[in-house]
Amino acid sequence: MASTIKRIGVLTSGGDAPGMNAAVRAVVRACIYYDIEVFGVYKGYDGLINANIKQLYVRSVSNILSRGGTFLLTARSEEFRTKEGREKAYENFKKFDLDALVVIGGDGSFTGANIFSQEFDVPVIGIPGTIDNDLAGTDFTIGFDTACNTAREAIDKIRDTASSHERLFFVEVMGRDAGFIAVNSAIGGGAVAMVVPEHNWTIDALIKRLRKGAANKKASNVVVIAEGCQLGNAYEVADAVKKELGYFDIRVTVLGHLQRGGSPTTMDRVLASRLGVAAVEGLRHGESKVMVGMINNEIAYTPIGQAIKTEKRLGAEEFRIAKILSI
Ligand code: F6P
Repeated sequence: MASTIKRIGVLTSGGDAPGMNAAVRAVVRACIYYDIEVFGVYKGYDGLINANIKQLYVRSVSNILSRGGTFLLTARSEEFRTKEGREKAYENFKKFDLDALVVIGGDGSFTGANIFSQEFDVPVIGIPGTIDNDLAGTDFTIGFDTACNTAREAIDKIRDTASSHERLFFVEVMGRDAGFIAVNSAIGGGAVAMVVPEHNWTIDALIKRLRKGAANKKASNVVVIAEGCQLGNAYEVADAVKKELGYFDIRVTVLGHLQRGGSPTTMDRVLASRLGVAAVEGLRHGESKVMVGMINNEIAYTPIGQAIKTEKRLGAEEFRIAKILSI
């Protein structure tokens, strides 16, 4: 049966992530390959509400594969959270004669996509783009690998100065309520400990780990703190440790938004390219209200509601490995 999808809109929404451009490029080129007209919606859902929409062509996406950020711009739209906002968005969806929407973003963007798709019975497909990696239905989200590499590279640099001065560093990384960036950058960067929201660390346990390292003549110590962890931010954790372990010369570094920028890694470019093509092919084959992800290196379509509601668990294995290696 011939596909009824003739015109697709594509937008990026929420926090930008390296590889979003690669995903837009893949959507645009796959559309053109399949004779589908494709329209860029600028500034996330706000662009749909304000009709900030332009047709994209094969050369519109030249030279963006290697660039971080998103050339379509992004926003966390407050107006789209309201029924009135979504009605305006639907008016423009119809005005531009769109048949489907591809949303590249994280859980907040997908919550909006799910509601919009249900309210107006519009075919919508999500592509997971967030550095946090906190979506079920995909092993990795676009931008996560680049963010981990950025954080790990920063930890390597901090390690140089930490060991020169025999200091203890607390490095805070992003991830919102999830510890994926923390765990990966900590293992990759040889951190003595990682404090993440998913794991019940206590200050006492952290102190015990650091004392043991000191007894083993550990020259430099880097502790990775996930921004959403229950012990507080990196400054608070550092203060609590300082009270007990006064002999450590302690410094704190908060990596912040630099983790969101930069040229995407090959992993992120390939993931974004595969998911972008699979999103268009999924729509052609009648998929809707799903997120396209990659599970065990295979394309998988998961209902959007399930992707945002299911908690993606951090593996216990990473903690075991990190503990063994931290002595
Ligand atoms: O979701 C991506 C993310 O970078 C989180 O890791 C972080 O908590 C949040 O966005 C920061 O949001 P903003 O850019 O609005 O400060």
